[in-house]
Amino acid sequence: MQFEWQVAPMNQWHGDGILFFGFENSTAPPPSLKRWSEETPTSLLDSYTWKDFRGKPQEIALHYEQAKQLIPRLMLVGLGPEEKFDLDKFRSAMAAAMRKWRDLRLGKMVLPMEALQDLPGDTNRSLEEALVVARTSLHRFDVLKTRDVESLPFPEEILISSESRPDTATSAIPSMAEGIGSGICLARELVVSPSNRVTPTYLARTAQQLAEKHGFKVEIIDFQGAQTLGMGAFTAVAQGSSEPACMVILEHCPPGLENTSPFVYVGKGITFDTGGISIKPSANLEAMKQDMAGAAAVLGAFQCIGKLKIKQRIVGIIPCTENMPDGKAYKPGDVITSLGGLTIEVISTDAEGRMVLCDALTHALQYRPSLIIDLATLTGACIIALGKQVAGVLSNRDALSAAIQSLGSEVGERFWPLPLWDSYFESIKSDVADFKNVGDRSAGAIIGGIFLKQFVPEDVPWAHLDIAGTAWADKDQPTSPKGATGFGVRILVELARHPERVKFTA
Ligand code: BES
Ligand code: MN
Ligand code: ZN
Repeated sequence: MQFEWQVAPMNQWHGDGILFFGFENSTAPPPSLKRWSEETPTSLLDSYTWKDFRGKPQEIALHYEQAKQLIPRLMLVGLGPEEKFDLDKFRSAMAAAMRKWRDLRLGKMVLPMEALQDLPGDTNRSLEEALVVARTSLHRFDVLKTRDVESLPFPEEILISSESRPDTATSAIPSMAEGIGSGICLARELVVSPSNRVTPTYLARTAQQLAEKHGFKVEIIDFQGAQTLGMGAFTAVAQGSSEPACMVILEHCPPGLENTSPFVYVGKGITFDTGGISIKPSANLEAMKQDMAGAAAVLGAFQCIGKLKIKQRIVGIIPCTENMPDGKAYKPGDVITSLGGLTIEVISTDAEGRMVLCDALTHALQYRPSLIIDLATLTGACIIALGKQVAGVLSNRDALSAAIQSLGSEVGERFWPLPLWDSYFESIKSDVADFKNVGDRSAGAIIGGIFLKQFVPEDVPWAHLDIAGTAWADKDQPTSPKGATGFGVRILVELARHPERVKFTA
């Protein structure tokens, strides 16, 4: 999929078809379409296509012109009622258009800036969302298929068309959208890939490749190294697996920012979660290949950060290991000393995410971070609390959780806050250690956050994002096919692009 500009008077634009958007029950065509019908010999507005078009959400109407015309097809996409319009509706409409475009096997789609200017809200934002959707909504993972491979080709080009030359900010958008889209697709491929392919070593190699491509610093701490450093909680989980574990550290540091406090992104990288000795039931166990979705989101975000050349120092830390039952595996009742020196009584070896994350969080402090965000498929309880469309945000700063909610909703990632009151600590009190790794069955997602909070000093703004529900879709979504969603990439990129939205006085 290519993005190209086409700057010319409307009647000189060319392409296989042109896209316009319409609101439900609008009495007049949008100004861009009206102009199009005046400037080109289209018969759309007199046709039954137009009379029949209702503008319902994701409704598509196709109008054909004479084959000899520069643009022989016109596609109208419904946005639903204008008063209910938001970027989610727009993204869904754009994705519906992309699917239709692919089904028709068309090549070059004309996307008029004038049509985007008709929409409420910021036109640059609409353009970026349209292009990210174009880049990601048809994504499919078929490298492991040798037969019955879906043969429909993807639309080859979006011609972003305008009568006037785009300004600097607008001209930068196609390559930004390409960067974001490729990061989302990378995260999806990592998550959907099975654990015999995406091992901890594979995640480390992916990080090394990103580092080479974008000039990041990369450090891989192996099991031995982690043990030497004292990462007792991380190695407790890793010791049960014969697949070599590693702690991967990526650093994006634009010249001159070496002495600034970075944002640190921490992602849970359990490449397969059997539960360990507290073994999970076998029904749907294959789903636990997704337990590295936090790590995938961090790697996907770094792909974008590299392409976007973001001016903010950012460190990524991903603890990578399987969680396996084994003669060497850690066991319920074991007391583990974490990197931070705190002792943990293991009640369930299936609460392994917080074990690997706590050492990653402690390690993050070495960088004197101005912000820590961790992402993890941490608890089934988060799915019970918020469902599959919304991730939990648990933070030691209300303003940070509010910023994550609002930045997230602009890019189609929804977050809802859960509390971190100290009174919850009661349920993880231990008789033998500083605390236990699980409480009783209540407030599971919050207890996960309370556990992690023990490792983050009060003066470091931090948010924990529980993406257990949102990392994977069981059915097709408006803007992504079923399977891995790439959730988390976009919020990390938004935070990196808008550091001013998350500058806090400690
Ligand atoms: N990886 C799971 C959580 C999970 C569940 C992710 C479903 C995605 C979909 C995590 O390691 C886990 O096993 N959590 C336990 C926590 C419990 C032992 C406190 C859970 O949710 O049951
Ligand atoms: Mn688990
Ligand atoms: Zn897990």
